[in-house]
Amino acid sequence: MAVTIIARIQAYLQLWMMLAVALVYLPITLISHPFLLITSPSSFRSAWFESYFSVLGPMLARSDVQAGHVEQVLSRAKGTVLELGPGGGDQIYHYKTDQIDQIYAAEPNTFLHPALLRNAEKHGLKGKVVPLKAGAEPGSLLPALKKAGLIASTTSSIPEEGVFDSIVAIKCLCSAPQDQIPATVEVVHALLKPGGEFLFFEHVANDTDSITMSYAWVMNWIWPVMMGNCHLNGKVDKVVLRTGGWDDRNVQNISEFQGLEVFRYVKGICRKA
Ligand SMILES: C[S@@+](CC[C@H](N)C(=O)[O-])C[C@H]1O[C@@H](n2cnc3c(N)ncnc32)[C@H](O)[C@@H]1O
Ligand SMILES: *[C@@H]1O[C@H](CO)[C@@H](O)[C@H](O)[C@H]1NC(C)=O
Ligand SMILES: *[C@@H]1O[C@H](CO)[C@@H](O)[C@H](O)[C@H]1NC(C)=O
Repeated sequence: MAVTIIARIQAYLQLWMMLAVALVYLPITLISHPFLLITSPSSFRSAWFESYFSVLGPMLARSDVQAGHVEQVLSRAKGTVLELGPGGGDQIYHYKTDQIDQIYAAEPNTFLHPALLRNAEKHGLKGKVVPLKAGAEPGSLLPALKKAGLIASTTSSIPEEGVFDSIVAIKCLCSAPQDQIPATVEVVHALLKPGGEFLFFEHVANDTDSITMSYAWVMNWIWPVMMGNCHLNGKVDKVVLRTGGWDDRNVQNISEFQGLEVFRYVKGICRKA
């Protein structure tokens, strides 16, 4: 069925509402970190992201359309866990604490680390969450894992038997370098122990509607700049479905996101062979 023009405009305007929230926090960040923009523009962007994500993050994490799906994937995490891009830990309440030994949290934005640790404490994971200043892309993640002593610093390869029981990614791979998503998924696979699971809930490109695709292409020039490097053209679902070495790949489209059709949401539970 064709989309009405009104529904289309509504969906497209939702992006602008998020951008407006980010803009409101720009002067606030300028005031609270007056010199950062000059001394370190990239830190300034991180501080800016933290300022509005500390408001948006908890709201999104509790929203009815998202929470059930995130619960379904996150509650499977167990043992030694790697969470990519956990932000301020707004999703941490989904973990089943009694099946978790340790969560290594690769969050490149260190302004979010205090909230992450607070949420860990609040939800029964005090002392079990170790923040790492690292992105999901191999060039950032692997040195951080070596520094944390999870991979021997003397070897160049990931141990055959893997390192983690679960690797989690919730709405963060859109912010990692998009040309490195295939390499990132490869490393995620290598870091899992046999039988370990890659658990994700991510937004990816709407690739069925050419007008929406054009709109996303245009918006993708400004969106990442204001939204902590988030991209509108994610593709982790396709990448995962292309790679081998899994004995079960359950990747699903989430259909109830009518109104946010610029994004398509997907969730995945993939078990390493
Ligand atoms: C939309 S937030 C989601 C945070 C959290 N997972 C949640 O659902 O509440 C995206 C997160 O990805 C982080 N991020 C930015 N660059 C990243 C990268 N290269 N790799 C992994 N995560 C990254 C951001 O700092 C931010 O915390
Ligand atoms: C999800 O939907 C897209 C179209 O929007 C389709 O191309 C893709 O095959 C679907 N993926 C799965 C796993 O069903
Ligand atoms: C893609 O965009 C079109 C037009 O806005 C929309 O009707 C469709 O539902 C979107 N697809 C998904 C999977 O969200």
